[in-house]
Amino acid sequence: MKILGIETSCDETAASLLEVKNGGFNLLSNVVLSQTEIHKKYGGIVPEVAARAHLEAINFVIAEALGKTIKPDLIAVTKGPGLITSLAVGVQTAKTLSYIWQAPLIGVNHLAGHLWSFLLNRNSQFEILNSLPAVALIVSGGHTELVLVKGIGKYKLIGQTLDDAAGEAFDKVAKMLGLGYPGGPIVSHFTLKGNKDKIKFPRPMLASADFDFSFSGLKTSVKYFIRDLLPKGNLSQQMICDICASFQAAVIEVLAAKTVWAAEKYKVKSIILGGGVSANEELAQRLRFKAQNLNINCLVPEKWLTGDNAAMIALAGYFNLPSPRLRQTGLKKSSKSNWKKLNAEANLRLV
Ligand code: KG4
Ligand code: ZN
Repeated sequence: MKILGIETSCDETAASLLEVKNGGFNLLSNVVLSQTEIHKKYGGIVPEVAARAHLEAINFVIAEALGKTIKPDLIAVTKGPGLITSLAVGVQTAKTLSYIWQAPLIGVNHLAGHLWSFLLNRNSQFEILNSLPAVALIVSGGHTELVLVKGIGKYKLIGQTLDDAAGEAFDKVAKMLGLGYPGGPIVSHFTLKGNKDKIKFPRPMLASADFDFSFSGLKTSVKYFIRDLLPKGNLSQQMICDICASFQAAVIEVLAAKTVWAAEKYKVKSIILGGGVSANEELAQRLRFKAQNLNINCLVPEKWLTGDNAAMIALAGYFNLPSPRLRQTGLKKSSKSNWKKLNAEANLRLV
């Protein structure tokens, strides 16, 4: 079965062709066209601009992903959550292709894509069954969620951010320091030469008796710290590195502590990490180390699959297929196109 994945929830226009064969996943193509250069000058994503850029790119991106394949057996498209104007481009394109090809269409939750993306670099889907139950930390620019994963589609939300997402906090701190956009990769690069113990930023909600997070107060602490330094002319290159390292240490300490605590409480077999922030080596390292101590797995996607891509959407689309039998045998040729039923949902929830 060949699945065409389409992803346009934010500022990446992406399409991918994923082949499912003998229970293994074969990534035939993974095309990601990033709009970072376009949005850089605004210091963040401008939804209207993002939607126009998706419109201009989507046909070319899909054509490249398809290669010589004339028609996929299934189309999987991100239905939400995300920017509604961006989502609409992917969903509408997928509906049109579904109608023309008479190919079945399935809407996918973007967060489910991030959750399962660790599987894309592995051969067997059966590995999942051995890894569950798991606690998944999904950390991106728009979300920070702790999810108990009992099976495919069997999720329980156990914690989430009450304000900013972790990735968003990275982006804002980078902006305050004038480092550019997107902030996560830049801040984590600056941490390499910084002292993480230099500034003791708060660890929000570290001691709260729940699995929720909050990053808004931490962001404000960084803001005030910079504000107080600036008049004294003390924002040296070294100080910027120290701020980045101290900020990142605070974020990681809270994310890791709550994830590990949840893993212990729910007695899971694995910790799953997903979302753009999972590209952060320090975070992945910390969770791997903690998981090893607990004698459980730590499942992290390969770095090039941590950001938004359509391969993870194709994969999650496959998992969304209604019956296990369909998943095993592939879709019947007679599967009807169901394009009329699908709509984008900006606030779609995983649970
Ligand atoms: O999943 P993603 O690509 O898009 C959303 O669904 O939001 O996540 C993007 C987020 C951005 O906030 C970006 O700054 C952050 O992931 N990010 C990182 C790193 N690489 C990307 N945050 C921390 N460290 C990184 N190395
Ligand atoms: Zn994402």
